[in-house]
Amino acid sequence: MSTWTPQTWREKPILQQPTYPDAAKVAEVEAELKRQAPLVFAGEIRNLKQELAAVSRGDAFLLQGGDCAESFAEFSADNIRDTFKVMLQMAIVLTFGAKKPVVKIGRVAGQFAKPRSADTETIDGVTLPAYRGDIINDIKFTEEARIPDPERLLKAYHQSAATSNLIRAFARGGLADLHKVHQWNLDFVKRSPLAERYNDLAERLEETLAFIKAVGINGITTPQLQETSFYTSHEALLLNYEEAFTRVDSLTGDWYDTSAHMLWIGDRTRQPDHAHIEFARGIQNPIGLKAGPTTSVDDLLRNIDSLNPNNEEGKLNIIVRMGAGNVEKHFTDLLRAVSKEGKNVAWSCDPMHGNTIKTENGYKTRRAEDVLSEVKEFFQIHKAEGTNAGGVHFEMTGRNVTECLGGQYDLTQHDLAERYHTHCDPRLNADQSLELAFLIADSLKDAAK
Ligand code: PEP
Ligand code: CO
Repeated sequence: MSTWTPQTWREKPILQQPTYPDAAKVAEVEAELKRQAPLVFAGEIRNLKQELAAVSRGDAFLLQGGDCAESFAEFSADNIRDTFKVMLQMAIVLTFGAKKPVVKIGRVAGQFAKPRSADTETIDGVTLPAYRGDIINDIKFTEEARIPDPERLLKAYHQSAATSNLIRAFARGGLADLHKVHQWNLDFVKRSPLAERYNDLAERLEETLAFIKAVGINGITTPQLQETSFYTSHEALLLNYEEAFTRVDSLTGDWYDTSAHMLWIGDRTRQPDHAHIEFARGIQNPIGLKAGPTTSVDDLLRNIDSLNPNNEEGKLNIIVRMGAGNVEKHFTDLLRAVSKEGKNVAWSCDPMHGNTIKTENGYKTRRAEDVLSEVKEFFQIHKAEGTNAGGVHFEMTGRNVTECLGGQYDLTQHDLAERYHTHCDPRLNADQSLELAFLIADSLKDAAK
């Protein structure tokens, strides 16, 4: 294979990039980004890789979640805390269902750039360039707002730095205490219309915590009870941003993209001979690769070979997003081919991106029931094939938004207008996310039978 450097992607065809009006300004910003401090340390990336290796062996379960797109407007400590809390709450429920450690990765601290289905957007007869995420242009529907501005790369970096700083503090500073997280879950269960369904699990967890406390296991003897690992990830879409943070690790001499622990390649930019695969093949970070209904067996195997030539465990996470009702049809051949070739991958299910619909009153949304169905189909296939259903990948928020339909409060299309805040795709709100975790925990128990 040809020599790789952090710049070789520039020689390949590339999709989904902005066209900046001032190339000199872009080069200036790229130089400035290269002088900025890394957001993560290579040693942490290696730890995540080990945890993902456990996922691929079936010894751990992956929970990846967060905003579809982070935004400058929604940035606040409370939002970050609330999403962090819900992910911990989900993780504890899933740990109980899967009887395995749960690896937690946020779509956070860098999840700004968005691939779009169309290059333009038309409202009332006016056509403008599409919004591509706050790191590129502004969501406001004016000509000026939609012009890509390279200064936004720096702003996104600084917001990512502040975000990851806070997440580290939450993970280590007491907010992740297991007893507290369990208490939040009990509060949820108490007010839930589906309380009875969840009570059993909540009570068993309560007993377990009481038991371990009684035998003298506490936060001092066992720091895992009050601390957690929480990793960051985003789609590696804007490759000049990723290039700027790709540095040689002084301990190993290897290249790491220090903008996040894990990077993934989206369903629209996974062409085997294109720039995104080229960039990702040279870095040591774990890589996520989306697989959608149009992913062919050949392309998938080629990408696996490029991204993980040594068949390392924990290196590659294939994120399957086929849509409810379509998993068996589109995923079976991929799963069989990868298993037959003996490739080490961690499989996870993104039940969001294949289930986006538009309501009659014009909202882009998803049904909670479709999300759950796709996860169940994913588990069933793995059970039938004797492979490991490694985890789930959600678009969610800790805020009480009204963006997805259904769930215990049965949101309808008429409720969506109330708190529809997303800058891109509809997210599960805190209640819908946690409810799903309980339902998935049930399926995980079934799958283990
Ligand atoms: C995403 O994860 O936000 C996304 C755009 O997904 P996909 O590439 O699978 O469409
Ligand atoms: Co999305």
